[in-house]
Amino acid sequence: PMVFTRTFDLIRRDNERIFLKIGAANYVVRIFLNGVYLGMHRGGFTPAFFEMTDHLKQSNRIVIVSDNTRRPEQVPTENTDWFNYGGIYRDIDILRLPEIFINDFCVSLVPDGCYNKILVKVKLSKEISAVGRFSIDEMNLHEEIEISNGYGERVIYCEPKLWSPEDPKLYNVSFSCMEDMVTDRTGFREILVKGKNILLNGNSIYLKGICCHEESMANGRALTDEERIENIRTAKELGCNLIRLAHYPHHENTARLADELGILLWEEIPVYWAIRFSKKETFDDAQNQLKELIKRDFNRASVIIWSVGNENADTDERLEFMSNLAKTAREMDPCRLISAACLIDSEKNMISDRLINYLDIIGINEYCGWYTPDFNKLTELLKNSSPDKPVIITEFGADAYPDHHGTIDDKGSEECQAYVYDKQLRKLINTDYIKGMTPWILYDFRCPRRTSFKQGYYNRKGLLSPDKKHKKIAYYVLKEFYSSIQDQ
Ligand code: GCU
Repeated sequence: PMVFTRTFDLIRRDNERIFLKIGAANYVVRIFLNGVYLGMHRGGFTPAFFEMTDHLKQSNRIVIVSDNTRRPEQVPTENTDWFNYGGIYRDIDILRLPEIFINDFCVSLVPDGCYNKILVKVKLSKEISAVGRFSIDEMNLHEEIEISNGYGERVIYCEPKLWSPEDPKLYNVSFSCMEDMVTDRTGFREILVKGKNILLNGNSIYLKGICCHEESMANGRALTDEERIENIRTAKELGCNLIRLAHYPHHENTARLADELGILLWEEIPVYWAIRFSKKETFDDAQNQLKELIKRDFNRASVIIWSVGNENADTDERLEFMSNLAKTAREMDPCRLISAACLIDSEKNMISDRLINYLDIIGINEYCGWYTPDFNKLTELLKNSSPDKPVIITEFGADAYPDHHGTIDDKGSEECQAYVYDKQLRKLINTDYIKGMTPWILYDFRCPRRTSFKQGYYNRKGLLSPDKKHKKIAYYVLKEFYSSIQDQ
């Protein structure tokens, strides 16, 4: 546990409501204002809000206790393959709001293939009746929205220019009601699955992705926007149209910058490995993190996939737990695709995870050529499987120590990593139900479990060194491969 404290002065205006927003703190935070306990938040990667209104003085002291102790019933558990940065590592804001304010403002293109309707959903902080005003000035669009019992929604006919990675068109949208007004910058796009195809704005797309943790050598988990931009630009230079933000919600600016710069995102909650699937408190924690992520990023055009987890054994408890997470995501957000990074059935060497029935896209992690040395296993796996929906290979890869060279059999050499990529890519591209991939991983990252001398507490499967200054040979293999794929 770490204790953070600060004093601040604040003159509260009449009927003003004052909230504290914590962008994220890992893992449990408890807030005290002027000695009064305001509440707690569990979950290391999504925002938390605490009302301070009734306990403010002119001069105030806030105390935040953040505890990143790992516990088996948490999400993730104590066992992860990444460094467990603790404390407050994203922005803290004080929100000054009118007595009745806008709590939710969701805007999306109606996914009916017509591209001529947007759905606006708004919620106020109080269950009253009112009339609000939705605007997109650039389209000279100003429409009233009736609100009753604090909620209103409306389908509005208009034909926005569609957002895509190649042409990331964003609109300034706003909604005002009574004394409050919320603005946002959002793009309009449609993402669907039809049979084994993934369609962006009606055109089939091959997801040329890469995985990425949220970390930099200089700042740990507390990246700067410049570092987030660098990661997106590096992925685009690699030829990517998608980044899998592993294995937890990244900073909200990552999706905002992806909207601006034009790249698709897979966002994920850390239901990672051996979660306590039989515990209700664990499900409630996971479901809460999923809801907070969807609420936070609903208006982000770049986000096309909600992932409910990574590499979990196919048991009855896990099926119940994760299928209910998939249902939660689908209920909250019919405009995006639901997925998870699943394991293969290693006995039958095929894709047969029961969770697949609840997903739109099947994510599969397989490490043929590395953890499973025999590449023929990959050939068999692809032949043995016959999924009826699109598959993304959400992880394959190999360790390579930057600038360590040797033969293709020399595990840890850049040549060996490049050989694994080359063999993988040749097999995957010739499999019709595979509609994308996000190899593991863009750059090396800190990991206490990687204790060998060469690993040096880093997972070395990156295509770049931890400081992103050195590109390994496999980077160029993947870049060449992606440049050879024309978007259908
Ligand atoms: C797993 C896991 C990653 C991990 C990787 C590895 O698939 O999803 O989080 O880092 O394999 O072993 O390098």
